[in-house]
Parts: sequence; structure tokens; C-alpha cells
Amino acid sequence: MNVTHLECGACGLHHEARRLQNLCSQCGKPLLVRYDLERAARTLTKESLSRRSSDLWRYREVLPVERDENIVTLGEGWTPLLSVQRLAALIGLSELFIKDESQNPTQSFKARGMAAAVSMAKELGAHSLAVPSAGNAAGALSAYCARAGLEAHIFMPKDTPRANVIECEQTGAHVTLMDGLITDCGKEVARLKETNNWFDVSTLKEPYRIEGKKTLGYELAEQLDWQLPDVIIYPTGGGTGLIGMWKAFDEMEVMGWIGEKRPRMITVQAAGCAPLVRAFEEGKREAPEFPNAATVASGLRVPRAIGDFLILDALRASKGSAVSVTDEELIAATREIGASEGLFCAPEGTACLPALRKLIAAGEVKQDDRVVLFNTGAGVKYLESYGG
Ligand SMILES: Cc1ncc(COP(=O)(O)O)c(C=O)c1O
Ligand SMILES: [Zn+2]
Repeated sequence: MNVTHLECGACGLHHEARRLQNLCSQCGKPLLVRYDLERAARTLTKESLSRRSSDLWRYREVLPVERDENIVTLGEGWTPLLSVQRLAALIGLSELFIKDESQNPTQSFKARGMAAAVSMAKELGAHSLAVPSAGNAAGALSAYCARAGLEAHIFMPKDTPRANVIECEQTGAHVTLMDGLITDCGKEVARLKETNNWFDVSTLKEPYRIEGKKTLGYELAEQLDWQLPDVIIYPTGGGTGLIGMWKAFDEMEVMGWIGEKRPRMITVQAAGCAPLVRAFEEGKREAPEFPNAATVASGLRVPRAIGDFLILDALRASKGSAVSVTDEELIAATREIGASEGLFCAPEGTACLPALRKLIAAGEVKQDDRVVLFNTGAGVKYLESYGG
């Protein structure tokens, strides 16, 4: 296929592509997949897309799997980009869209990353995969491992939403619930993986989840007829989706699909766990661990992100920003979006609405800006947060 090598996102060191590996062997930072895009663009043309499958594998030439038979799929991707005019009118914008990622297998955008990561793990010969997760990544890994005939080992905080725990059990994973946060779960995976021969698929600690997630950027461009929006508002934990979209835009530009204009990228975090917002405001390129992280938006309860510099670079390069919202604000927004548009969004997704209101109030988003909010998951997975 078209993969040429893996490249460290920090020091630039090249790594061989056809081998299972985690972080940069020199500096310990995330590895990014690089392609021969000229070659990819020979068959992956805008015109060819109309004849392709309605899932993320429509962008096959810029995905890392070499052999078709290694693709592990449950039909992920190609989710609707919904125009939400009633909500737009409510907050005073002329054009607003929601990319509804709850329509993925396992009901969240984590399916994209895990489809790619599990396919690659299978192709490169792994048998057991392990992940620390805030919930949705666990559900997705369990499902894709079951589909691939691989073993999944899941480590989650014990107060992870029940639905995530149950879905992992019912899709055959080995589940460990821990006192502590996702960072503590990550340490446990790191401690156990060598002796158990597990491949660690933690966010950005392997190179392929980001490749699945980047298809968000390809889809957005295609669904908007190759005119990227002015503003993207994205609920950020580890940041794989945001980094992935940013990467996709560069790839599309090299292939001649879009110009150099980029959307302003906005990171949304919960006030109870906002390491990136804090680092952005302080002008830093690294985001130190956020103390006593707490929020009902469990996917945003990520006190430390290994790809912090990649996220912060993208926010700044795009002239975007980082905004935090309280749990009260994001919970209230659930009903507002639900009652006006019929979408029961995950709390991570609903956080985008109060963030947008703040940006409008600050004059950072104007009435005629074309804005896309990301609903990254499904409200039904979080019944505890809504009195259920
Ligand atoms: C529903 C949902 N939204 C957003 C996020 C944050 O995603 P990322 O880690 O890609 O920033 C998560 C992560 O668990 C999630 O489950
Ligand atoms: Zn490096």
C-alpha cells in the first residue's frame, strides 16, 4: 500500500512501518503514519468516492492496512453531518452542523480509531491487546477484538459509566476496574504488558488509532463539498480526533483536494479537568497533569495527554482556542440539543454547545461563521448522569 514510514511527532525520527511498535524509540513521543500521497492520489480521487463503501474504508489508500483480509470492520464511519437549523437560530448563528458520531458501532467515535488499530494489530501479528480507558474506547476495543478473534484486556476507573463496563463484559473482554483515573489504569497496563505479551493500544501510544480518527477530517471535507468549515468545536480528552483531523487536512492539501485555509480548531474540556485549556491560556506547549480531575463527561476526564504538544500546536496554528465548561452547563445543554434537534448526545458532545455560546459572547465566533460541533458519543451510555 502507500505507507512509507512512521515519523515521530516530536523529534521527527523515522521508524519502520511494518512492525508492531508504540512510541518513538528516541524520545518516547507519539509516532505518525506517513504515506506516499502522490501515489495514493492516483486512485483516491474525489470522483472515485461516489462509488465507494459508506464507511471509513472509502479512504482506503490513506489508511495503513496492507491486505484487505485484515480489515476488521463493524461498519464504522461515514456518519451524518446534520444541519441543525433550530439550534442555530436559538444561539444566533446562520449555519451550524453536528457531526453525529453516536451512529458508529459501539455508539461512539472511538470505533474509528479501534477499527484501524485492531486491523493493524491483527495484520502485524498481535494476539492480545490492552487499553486503559475512560469507557468508550474500552467498548470499542472489546467489540473489534471480538470481531477479529483477538483478546482484549480493559482497565477502567471503577466509576466508569455502567453501560461501558457491561458492553465490554458482553463482548468478551477481560475487564479490570480500578480505584483511580485513566492515568492510573495506564500505569497498570504498562506494568503488566511485558509479562503478559499484550500490545498496548493506549491513545497515541500506538500509531494507528489516529489514522482511523483522521477520517473525521476527510468526511467533513467531503460532506461539505470540499469547503472546510470556519470553526470546529471538539471535546478533547487525549485529543486523537483533533490531531487526526489536523493531519487529514494536510494530507488532503498535498493531494490537491483542499487549499491552505484551515478551520479554527477549538478544544472543549470540562472545568473539572481542563489541562489543555490551562496550558493554552498560559501559552505553554505542554499540559501538566490536572489535579483532582472530576467530571460526569467521563471521556474528558483525562488529566494528562501524551499528545498535548500536537493538540496545542494545532489550536495555535489554526488561530483557534481552548474553552472549559462546567458540568452544570454541559448537562443542561443535553436537553437543549435533544429537545431542539432530537439527538440524545453524550455529555462530551453536549459540552460543545456552552463552549460555542462562550465563543460567541467573546466575539471569537461570528454570526456568519460556519460551525461544526462534534457529538462524539451517545447519551444512552450515561444514564447515571441523567438520574437513570
Ligand atoms: C464520548 C467521548 N468524547 C470525547 C472523548 C475524548 O476523545 P479524545 O481522547 O480523542 O480527545 C472521549 C474519550 O474517551 C469520549 O468517550
Ligand atoms: Zn522522537
